[in-house]
Formats: sequence, C-alpha cells, structure tokens
Amino acid sequence: MGVGEVVRSLGIAVVEESRHPEFVPGDVVRGFTGWQEEVLIEDLKGWDRLPDATTARLGILGMTGLTAWVGMGDICSPRAGETVFVSAAAGAVGSAAVQLARLAGARVVASAGGPRKCALLADELGVDAVVDHRADDWADQLRDATPDGIDAVFENVGGPLMEAVLDRMNNGGRIALCGLISGYNDVVRPPGPRNFGLLVTKRIRAEGFVVVDHTHRAARCEAELGEHLEAGRLRAFETVVEGFDTVVPTFVGSFDGGHVGKLVVSLG
Ligand SMILES: NC(=O)c1ccc[n+]([C@@H]2O[C@H](COP(=O)([O-])OP(=O)(O)OC[C@H]3O[C@@H](n4cnc5c(N)ncnc54)[C@H](OP(=O)(O)O)[C@@H]3O)[C@@H](O)[C@H]2O)c1
Repeated sequence: MGVGEVVRSLGIAVVEESRHPEFVPGDVVRGFTGWQEEVLIEDLKGWDRLPDATTARLGILGMTGLTAWVGMGDICSPRAGETVFVSAAAGAVGSAAVQLARLAGARVVASAGGPRKCALLADELGVDAVVDHRADDWADQLRDATPDGIDAVFENVGGPLMEAVLDRMNNGGRIALCGLISGYNDVVRPPGPRNFGLLVTKRIRAEGFVVVDHTHRAARCEAELGEHLEAGRLRAFETVVEGFDTVVPTFVGSFDGGHVGKLVVSLG
C-alpha cells in the first residue's frame, strides 16, 4: 500500500447507484471497501451480496470466522479431551477460535491481557483456564493451566508467550500459525523462539496459513458458522464504534487491546 493510497480493509456497503443489471440501490455488499465513505466498484471480483448488514458478517461470519475455522479445523484439528491453547483469545479471531475448539470437545486454555478480558473468556466463552499475559506471574499461570501439556496451539501473538507455550507442548502437537501480533510494530525483528528445536524432538507440526487462500470455502464456512450462531452454540463477539473520524484512532488503539472481539467501525 503506497503513501496517500486508500487504506485497505474489508467492509459492508449499501448500493446507492448501480449500472449493473443484478444490483439495485439498497442491496448490501461485502468486499474491500477501504477506509472511505464511498467506493466505486468496477470489478465485482472479491465482492459478495449479503442478505443483511449485520456486523457479524465482518466478524464471525466473515473473514475473521473463516480464519478461525481454517486454523482450528484444518491445522489444530482438536480431538475431544485434548488441550488447545489460543492466544489473543479475547480478540476477533481468538474469540472465534476458542469457541470452535470448545465445540470440538477440547479443553481450552486461552490468553488475554488484563483481568477484564480474562473474566470474559471464562464467564462468557466457557474457556476452561485463562492466562493473563500482562500479569507478572503469567508463566506460572500457564504452567498451572496446562497440567497435561498442550496438544494444539492457535498462535496469534508470538514472542515470549509463544516460547513458553512451546515448552508446554506434548509430542505430536499441532500449531496453527495465524499471526505474530506482538512483533508487528517492532523496528528490529525479534530473535526466533530459543526453543524452536522442540518442534523437532516433540514431532510438532507447525503450519502457517493465510485466510485469503481459503476464500473459495467462505460460503461453506459462513453457512456452517451461521447455523451454530442461530442455534446459540456460537456467539458473535464484537466492539462497534461509530463515525468515520474514529477510524484512525480505532486502528491505532487496536494494538493496546482495549476492545473485545471483532472491532468494527460503523459509518451509520
Ligand atoms: N493468517 C491469517 O490469514 C490471519 C487473518 C486475520 C488475522 N490474522 C492474525 O490473527 C491475529 C489476531 O487478529 P485479530 O483480528 O483477532 O486481532 P484483534 O481483534 O485486533 O486482537 C488483537 C489482540 O492481540 C493482542 N495483542 C496485541 N499486541 C500484543 C502483544 N504485544 N502481546 C500480546 N498480545 C498482544 C491484544 O489482546 P490482549 O489485550 O488480550 O493482549 C489485542 O487485542 C493477528 O496476529 C493477526 O495478524 C491472521
């Protein structure tokens, strides 16, 4: 993305004017709107029509849900009774990933920053044990929360927490490498985890994935997660803020972790 270009982002928009025979004013569409109040769509590739403009279609029923579904389903593949660890679990992807792990019958251990988010994970998402990565004793919390080790990891954060999690992993474990947000703003890249060799001795499979490679499965995922949502087996966690002027501070604030679930800016 070049300086001065519109910042890329997914969004939901309502058609105001159309020269396309299949779209009329009032239709709701989803695609890469960018950070702007109006968008001229010249190529429909990457856009889809929605039955409604509910914000969950950007979160658990959108790219966020697809990310959690691919990482948890294809790579972590938890079996009932296994221990699954999810980092940044009160965030958009993490809150979906923990719910999918629970639906698979796994014991879920999850990390978030601060008592408020940790309480939410336990009380509202049914996480079995939480780790507050901002607490001084987070390493002890992780050890106590994983008496039987960890069988699968949904990794969103990286850094010291990921290193400690690797130490707790069981032989034959799986890691879905979704993101390493703790290093995104670092000018100098952090050295790799010092215990990376454990992947060899413990026969751990780590696999990176990028959600855009899976968009051909998005409709199936949306239908499946939509059914769970309707039946009350899944919840859409989100924080909605209002107004175009909030876009930049909201993005910057997303790194300090004030929000829970999918962070959506509504332009009203
Ligand atoms: N592979 C893919 O295709 C794909 C697609 C979408 C997203 N992702 C990745 O998935 C991860 C989560 O994305 P999201 O959309 O769920 O983000 P999000 O809702 O904005 O949540 C991000 C959370 O990460 C935590 N965090 C931020 N900086 C941290 C640090 N230095 N150390 C530890 N935790 C930190 C914060 O939670 P706390 O306050 O709890 O610490 C923050 O709220 C990111 O790494 C993102 O890049 C990957």
